[in-house]
Amino acid sequence: MNVIIVKDYEEASQKAFEIMVEQVKSNPNSALGLATGSTPLRLYELMREDHKKNGTTYKGIRTFNLDEYYGLAPTHPQSYHYFMCHNLFDELDIDMNNVHVPKGEGSIEEETEAYNKLLEENPIDLQLLGIGSNGHIGFNEPGTSFDSTTHYIQLKESTIQDNARLFFNGNIDEVPTHAVTMGIKNILQAKKVLLIACGENKAIAVKGMVEDEKNVELPASALQDHDDVTLIIDEAAASLLTKK
Ligand code: GLP
Repeated sequence: MNVIIVKDYEEASQKAFEIMVEQVKSNPNSALGLATGSTPLRLYELMREDHKKNGTTYKGIRTFNLDEYYGLAPTHPQSYHYFMCHNLFDELDIDMNNVHVPKGEGSIEEETEAYNKLLEENPIDLQLLGIGSNGHIGFNEPGTSFDSTTHYIQLKESTIQDNARLFFNGNIDEVPTHAVTMGIKNILQAKKVLLIACGENKAIAVKGMVEDEKNVELPASALQDHDDVTLIIDEAAASLLTKK
């Protein structure tokens, strides 16, 4: 794992932006794996600004999001589909036919099968990740097999609380209890992985991911098996690392 420790969220976002734009420019037909949550918000803002100012084009880019809440229509303001359109796609020149977010409605079996097929046909060049305070990646909660592919999952109480704090106007009852997520195996199949972790509440998960023995109770520790992972971590999230 290539661990880059930076001062703060802004610096982390700038570094991630450099890697993302380098990927898009060096291969304008890249398949990008994208993430939601509060962490990539500034990165997405930098990508929008850069597209507007410098004309970086996304016309040939294909995107594949990690996950979606189950039970929310793509038009629901808290759905990850809506989040991606609002925070990124609407202001890029991306072809919306090339944008993929798992469906959080309808037949779970059909959707998970279709999404796995899509990922098989479109190997991901760069997978962006955040990390949950309990170490989840995508919505792969503690206990998820490292061999998992796209699946339906019940969210942990702590994840529901974390996500209500930042989204859903703080209303815990509005956060869906289940989601559809790419599995850990899908994530590990990406050619490169870029994970951003900022803030004190990520410090325990970051320590587990980087320094503890790989174990399913800390899903992000599966990344130890990948040979091209870049972790961009701010000082607060890195505060429990012993080998800096
Ligand atoms: C959600 C998403 C994850 C994300 C995590 C962390 O659970 N499914 O992909 O990494 O939240 O969110 P935040 O970046 O807001 O801390």
